[in-house]
Amino acid sequence: MPDPLVLAIDQGTSATKCLLVDAAGRIVARAATPVAVDYPQRNRVEQSPMEIWASVRDAVARCVSGHDPADIAAVGVSNQRESVLLWDRATGLPLGPMLGWQDQRTADACRRLRAAGAGEAVRRISGLPLDPMFSALKARWLLDTYDPDRRRAARGELCLGTVDSWLIWRLTGEHRVEMGNAARTQLLDVRRRAWSEELLELFDVPPEVLPAPVPSSGPFGEVRDLAGLPASVPLAGVLGDSHAALLAHGAVTPGLVKATYGTGSSVIGVLDVPGAVPDGLCLTIAWDEGTPVYAVEGNIRASGAVLAWLARLLRTTPAELAAMAENASSAGVDIVPAFGGLGAPWWDEHATGLISGLDLGTAPEQLARAAIEAIALQVNDVVAAVAQGAGPVRRLLADGGGSANDTLMQLQADFGRIPVWRAVTPNLSALGAAHLAGRTAGVWSRADLGELPREYDTFTPCADGAGPAERVASWHTAVDRARLRLP
Ligand code: G3P
Repeated sequence: MPDPLVLAIDQGTSATKCLLVDAAGRIVARAATPVAVDYPQRNRVEQSPMEIWASVRDAVARCVSGHDPADIAAVGVSNQRESVLLWDRATGLPLGPMLGWQDQRTADACRRLRAAGAGEAVRRISGLPLDPMFSALKARWLLDTYDPDRRRAARGELCLGTVDSWLIWRLTGEHRVEMGNAARTQLLDVRRRAWSEELLELFDVPPEVLPAPVPSSGPFGEVRDLAGLPASVPLAGVLGDSHAALLAHGAVTPGLVKATYGTGSSVIGVLDVPGAVPDGLCLTIAWDEGTPVYAVEGNIRASGAVLAWLARLLRTTPAELAAMAENASSAGVDIVPAFGGLGAPWWDEHATGLISGLDLGTAPEQLARAAIEAIALQVNDVVAAVAQGAGPVRRLLADGGGSANDTLMQLQADFGRIPVWRAVTPNLSALGAAHLAGRTAGVWSRADLGELPREYDTFTPCADGAGPAERVASWHTAVDRARLRLP
């Protein structure tokens, strides 16, 4: 038999990307299919579950064409997390849209729960702060809308799931969820690795609708009817996208921390033991191959979104802004992008977006530079918090579209005084899913995976003594201002 291939599917918010990886770990084919995001009202972010599934089929078909599907030994999936949908168990058809992870329609419900004092128990059990980003309140909204008396749920007629569950269902017919994805729903007891009765009751989610949580290595079942793949190909690895990128970086021990630069940013590093997690960070399951590996994670809501916003304001493009920022100085200007409050490490929904330090001479270049710096400064705050929970950070591993910006990477190294290594390979999430699926299916051993090719550009902190520290101090003054509560 020729060398086996591994097919990886990365289902993200704006596109589904596929890779075909050979036994030497080289990417031999790629394809991507865009997916629409709808913003039907303020605070609402929706996607079509059927369009997501169609995009998977399309991207897979184009990625596999030109190769013999019979050579594919395993399929892996990585996916956007926290988004949630409801479907009919008998017909397999969705009830309503998928509510995206950015959807904030449950913000008021969240505030009410917090005011009622539920935050402490939610954090203790799930490892997550009570926040509308996670799936639980969205799941309640879907059930309240499509099964208000929970009668259909009780009769076992409905399935509720995250994106991985939806794809597992479509690919193999099983109603399962991967453990790391389950850990981001806010319904899982993160230490027991089982749905929490207390949280199910709090969020009014009947257990009958939920998928069975299984390890990241499965079993998920065998893939049916996909681009001519043989019937016996296993879905052999599923991971949340951020977790998959961490695995692809080979960051499997504490001390290596990963930052993804997208619309928002996720900073994540694995832990030795799931001990106390600093306030403002989440405790999550990175992956689980029978034994769970825990991680601390901080999510920043607006990262690349800062540039997109400023580009709209100044009637230019993010690329143009990045060019303007390259040799400019922010010269006392700070932009705190608290567009919908601040995420990690502050989790302050009352924080307000602000620009400080303006004078009559403030120029667009200064704003552009301040916007790029705001991305690095936010990541820097989360890396510092991760270091409190997971120990000293030896190296920051960078990926995602925003990491292509050299100025940003150098600032990141300077602000935190840590080496930054930027992955050269795009789409690390898909690669991580391929690595896990290939390992589960026996294409690679654990030792082989350590040897697979990984290429990086490196950024070393500048020698300049006080500059970065002063810049970080000025940023923190601006963050304090953004968080100020006026009577
Ligand atoms: O937590 C949300 C994250 O998983 C979304 O990823 O790739 O769709 O931006 P992406």
